Amino acid sequence: MLWWPLIVPILGVSAVPAPQSSPATGQTSAACAQISRAVRSQLAPQSSGSLAFDCLGSVPNRPQPAVKLVESLKAFVQWQSTLAFLKNPPQSYMLPPVDIQGSLDNISATATAGGFSSEYDFQVKILQTLFAAHDGHFLFVPDVFKVFTFSNSLAEGIVSVSSNGSSLPKLYHYSTLLSVRTAPVAITKINGLDATSFLTSLGSAFSLAQDADAEWNMLFPIYSNPAGGNPLAFFPLFLGPNLTLTYENGTTQTQQTVATLKPGVDFSNIASGDDFYDTFCNPDTTTGTPAASSTGLIQTKPGLKRRSPTLADYPPPVVQNSDEGTTMGFFVDGTGFEDVAVLAISSFAEETDPLYLPKFQDAVQSFLSQSRAAEKQRLVIDLTSNGGGSVLAGFELFAQLFPGVDSFNANDMRLTESLANISRILAAQPIQDQKTDVAASSLLSNLSPIDLSDPQGDKFNTTDEILTPVTLQGDQFTAYIRQPTVPGFTLTGTGDRYNPPPALFKPENIVLLTDGTCGSTCTIFSYLMIFQANVTTVSVGGRPQVGPMQSVGGVEGSQVLTFSEISNISATAISLVSDQAEAKQLLAGELGVLAEGYAVQRAADPVSSPGSINFRNAFAPSDSKTPLQFLYEPANCRFFYTPQMINTPELVWKYAVNATWTDPARFCVQGSRVQANATKILDPAFQAKKDGAGAGNGTDGGSGTEDGNGGAQTKGPEDDNDKPKSSAQGRFQSGNMQAVWLFVAVLVTIVYL
Ligand SMILES: *[C@@H]1O[C@H](CO)[C@@H](O)[C@H](O)[C@H]1NC(C)=O
Ligand SMILES: *[C@@H]1O[C@H](CO)[C@@H](O)[C@H](O)[C@H]1NC(C)=O
Ligand SMILES: *[C@@H]1O[C@H](CO)[C@@H](O)[C@H](O)[C@H]1NC(C)=O
Ligand SMILES: *[C@@H]1O[C@H](CO)[C@@H](O)[C@H](O)[C@H]1NC(C)=O
Ligand SMILES: *[C@@H]1O[C@H](CO)[C@@H](O)[C@H](O)[C@H]1NC(C)=O
Ligand SMILES: *[C@@H]1O[C@H](CO)[C@@H](O)[C@H](O)[C@H]1NC(C)=O
Ligand SMILES: *[C@@H]1O[C@H](CO)[C@@H](O)[C@H](O)[C@H]1NC(C)=O
Ligand SMILES: *[C@@H]1O[C@H](CO)[C@@H](O)[C@H](O)[C@H]1NC(C)=O
Ligand SMILES: *[C@@H]1O[C@H](CO)[C@@H](O)[C@H](O)[C@H]1NC(C)=O
Ligand SMILES: *[C@@H]1O[C@H](CO)[C@@H](O)[C@H](O)[C@H]1NC(C)=O
Ligand SMILES: *[C@@H]1O[C@H](CO)[C@@H](O)[C@H](O)[C@H]1NC(C)=O
Repeated sequence: MLWWPLIVPILGVSAVPAPQSSPATGQTSAACAQISRAVRSQLAPQSSGSLAFDCLGSVPNRPQPAVKLVESLKAFVQWQSTLAFLKNPPQSYMLPPVDIQGSLDNISATATAGGFSSEYDFQVKILQTLFAAHDGHFLFVPDVFKVFTFSNSLAEGIVSVSSNGSSLPKLYHYSTLLSVRTAPVAITKINGLDATSFLTSLGSAFSLAQDADAEWNMLFPIYSNPAGGNPLAFFPLFLGPNLTLTYENGTTQTQQTVATLKPGVDFSNIASGDDFYDTFCNPDTTTGTPAASSTGLIQTKPGLKRRSPTLADYPPPVVQNSDEGTTMGFFVDGTGFEDVAVLAISSFAEETDPLYLPKFQDAVQSFLSQSRAAEKQRLVIDLTSNGGGSVLAGFELFAQLFPGVDSFNANDMRLTESLANISRILAAQPIQDQKTDVAASSLLSNLSPIDLSDPQGDKFNTTDEILTPVTLQGDQFTAYIRQPTVPGFTLTGTGDRYNPPPALFKPENIVLLTDGTCGSTCTIFSYLMIFQANVTTVSVGGRPQVGPMQSVGGVEGSQVLTFSEISNISATAISLVSDQAEAKQLLAGELGVLAEGYAVQRAADPVSSPGSINFRNAFAPSDSKTPLQFLYEPANCRFFYTPQMINTPELVWKYAVNATWTDPARFCVQGSRVQANATKILDPAFQAKKDGAGAGNGTDGGSGTEDGNGGAQTKGPEDDNDKPKSSAQGRFQSGNMQAVWLFVAVLVTIVYL
């Protein structure tokens, strides 16, 4: 069975049962029926993980739809901006290369040859191929995963903590750390293997950060993410029939893995793997999402929203944006901390709140004005667990902290044929229609010269200027663009907010506190602070080893795009082509495949998680050749969580203050102090253009045009008079780390803290 080689490197041989061979025989084929009977008779509270896995193993892989699924997927994957860099990464990228397209071709070929013994094996291979991109914007979870969740309570609440913040951490059950009666005992092995390497591999396989320490941190619960994300505790993939932990005192403990049905799944009539396929994997016969189940006791635990930080052990905030409290301001108590203010931002979005942005803007403004009144001098910005959100929120925060400082912004997109065709069809529309389309679509606003500028602030004149290929890493990309403008929100520094209060905190008095999982909008904000303002960073957690850690380890692309958006625009584009022969030709090609959107129909959750790609690469001012996703940017210092810190953020903030200003030599982990680099040179491609020179010249634009002001990276590109005053424009909802939330927020049902 093909899952064997895939799972073994993660779980180790001892963790994996002898694979059930050929499908649809004996016990295996009866597994689904057995679960179905239990559901109907309400006998079993849960199924054993192995039984559910046997059931999945009996679901046939039907070659024709499998090949169609991969074909559809490949059309969407064309839009993923990092393919060439993943296949052939630069030295600064710390993770293994992966040929996404080649791997999908292999999967298709294997399916054609009947090489998958089950639909589950086939879809696991797809999932793992995408996971290997380590990109929180790049995910597709197909339909076989919409039925079961596997969980193991023994893995819940495992944390990685140090005795004092700088000695190496060990793994513990969080509950044992709280016991006053018995000393906690560390976990040394998982399924007989060294626990650290086991969890490092697990994080690498499933955590979707582009940095090993960030992947490590994503596994564990912490005050800003109480659910944690340990796949051993809760996951749609089967990771073994049981979990065995070995402790430092020599004891071992084993716990069986259980399977539960996801909410709304009706399993009462599934008598075989074929029934399973027809019910859950065939968009022609599935009647949408099954009606709310309630049949049987195989149920997931009640769903959990991310716990409101205000319910955790946060001190009383001076400012809070909402009940959910994703943005909170604090003044720190205690001798030596009187001048310290803390801004804790666990997310740049709140999905349910349409007024998120204005509330965020108000909260930051109120926090700064109260800090000014209280004569605060130093600022800790806590970005732990921040996987992004609204790009505008990131630009807004920077604009309030450093009013008047230009926000550097450079992005590009993979120049696929389907993208170019959509752009040209759009450009052929009457201008008023173009404007309407662009205003309505976060996809189209990146493809149209209307209101789109290059990083220097020059407006694009034509679609062809945007589509002039830039070759990077052997692949073709659009011209570099700035974040498109967004109507409806007045960013600080513009409009009637053109004259904000001056900066309160000096750059050297601000530190960014991250746990490496900072992704998407969080990376955009962080890099504005690091590159434009020379602000330092301190990171917490990571693998149990000395030395530095990256501060920004989540996805560093600057826009996520769902398969449904791409599919919708593709269908619309084809419908706009008046020449019937041409429309027919487009329909028969890749644009037609996108428009049909078969992959969307095959997603486990077509509505809220239809699949997504990273649309735009983001670039540092100093490097137009390598997307930020592939650069290495260490934090200036790093420390570890102590047991008390897990649920007491104030201790983390105080330690961050100590490590940044009080005594870095004492408080930073050995070998983790890295000097800030203040004097990188602005890349020639991003330097101000001489009039009429260099336009559209791709990677070489502007070289040799010395204008004497392009050097100081901390100031960004010098302002020209005819440039927009601020390039700080963003777009709603363009930067969530969907993947992480798919597995953490949506699925996790247990509060650990
Ligand atoms: C756990 O699973 C392993 C691998 O399948 C098996 O060998 C072992 O007997 C199981 N242990 C328990 C206690 O169930
Ligand atoms: C495709 O499969 C072949 C045979 O298993 C393997 O040698 C090759 O490396 C695979 N290519 C990719 C891109 O995964
Ligand atoms: C060893 O530690 C584990 C985990 O704390 C505990 O459950 C077990 O009782 C301990 N065994 C002994 C012999 O103390
Ligand atoms: C793009 O348009 C050209 C010209 O109509 C056509 O030949 C090509 O097949 C199209 N490609 C896609 C992916 O739609
Ligand atoms: C638009 O045209 C002007 C005038 O030719 C040129 O200076 C400018 O660079 C062009 N914009 C872009 C983004 O190339
Ligand atoms: C940037 O910060 C570092 C560390 O605080 C400092 O040494 C350096 O002088 C600063 N550079 C500028 C240009 O402010
Ligand atoms: C695209 O989405 C819009 C808004 O949801 C919808 O009105 C329209 O019908 C869709 N178009 C296509 C071609 O699916
Ligand atoms: C910070 O440093 C002060 C002075 O060395 C020390 O008393 C305090 O315990 C430290 N706090 C933390 C949380 O590390
Ligand atoms: C933590 O403990 C280690 C070993 O006892 C010691 O070397 C280190 O200085 C301590 N760190 C702090 C911040 O006190
Ligand atoms: C600064 O540059 C040096 C040399 O290129 C590099 O080793 C170091 O990691 C950089 N520091 C940061 C914080 O990026
Ligand atoms: C612009 O591109 C052309 C052709 O690619 C090249 O010959 C020319 O040297 C480039 N100009 C600059 C200023 O780089």
